[in-house]
Amino acid sequence: RPRVLSGIQPTSGSFHLGNYLGAVRQWSALQETHDAFYMVVDLHAITIPKDPQELRDNTRLAAAQLLASGLDPDRCTVFVQSHVPEHTQLSWIMECLTGFGEASRMTQFKDKSSKQGADRTSVGLFTYPVLQIADILLYQANQVPVGEDQRQHVELTRDLALRFNGRYGATFTVPEPYILKETAKIYDLQDPAIKMSKSASTPKGIINLLDEPKVSAKKIKSAVTDTDTVIRFDEDKKPGISNLLTIYSTLTGTGIAELEQKYDGKGYGALKTELSEIVGEWVAPFRARTQEYLADPAALDAVLAKGAEKARAVASETLALAYDRVGFLPAA
Ligand code: TYM
Repeated sequence: RPRVLSGIQPTSGSFHLGNYLGAVRQWSALQETHDAFYMVVDLHAITIPKDPQELRDNTRLAAAQLLASGLDPDRCTVFVQSHVPEHTQLSWIMECLTGFGEASRMTQFKDKSSKQGADRTSVGLFTYPVLQIADILLYQANQVPVGEDQRQHVELTRDLALRFNGRYGATFTVPEPYILKETAKIYDLQDPAIKMSKSASTPKGIINLLDEPKVSAKKIKSAVTDTDTVIRFDEDKKPGISNLLTIYSTLTGTGIAELEQKYDGKGYGALKTELSEIVGEWVAPFRARTQEYLADPAALDAVLAKGAEKARAVASETLALAYDRVGFLPAA
């Protein structure tokens, strides 16, 4: 079985629709066909200051949401990044192989650091993509299911895998991004020129999966669209409507052409009302299952402990190989 690995930050409490449609939805599909590793990336989360208790709570909450969205610990490995120390160990080696200039060109770093200013930007935020490289290479992943915003980090991972292999001999699998075109980028409901994101979106622009359905319905109904009335998929001229059609289409499995036909002659209001209902129906069982997992933290922690054990078995083997290739003297 080919292997996949991916991760999600525990930063934000609730997952949003972009996280789900862009990434997590694919994760549960891939567990059927791939040897799959999925993690909550708490090490990445602290690149921006985090309250310790919130970080702990949000890590469990993220794990609960992963299980609620269909990841089955018997069919894939779900774990917490900090439970596997090999991530930080391999990251150091990769830092020594990554150019300062090439790390400086990462657009997510440039965006985040320019907002914060140099003195408030941590070195960890700068090396963030290198830790991500280690995450991926440790598992010899063939594919990395993510949204479009992570493509550059996966490309950098490929470059570094090739560089390491070139310098030290074949060691790492060179991974490919796995990005579904239709859902690669889910847009902000208030500003369909930017992606839906915790850091950039206003509360009205973002659909949180754990919100009450009526809160999300209100946001969908006030989503920014164009002044035309025709329901047609056209990302350039009608980005707002196209985004709603994408969400509708992926949640229901209905093709875009079919939706255009269904809403032919109807106004934006009808589409928004029905999409609100669809989102509401989708989130109801998701929210209930998340609450069930959270209600039994001991069971949840046991799932994560077992996941960490499975992950470490793979990660430690890769790290030992990398240490040897680099020329570290084995500890007697
Ligand atoms: P994170 O936590 O920001 O996001 C988790 C996943 O959700 C995707 N995503 C989106 N997809 C489509 N449209 C959107 N509006 C949208 N917003 C978010 C992201 O692309 C991501 O796939 N650096 C990563 C976490 C990470 C990782 C890894 C991923 C750490 N190590 C190793 C893959 C492999 C991140 O911050 O994702």
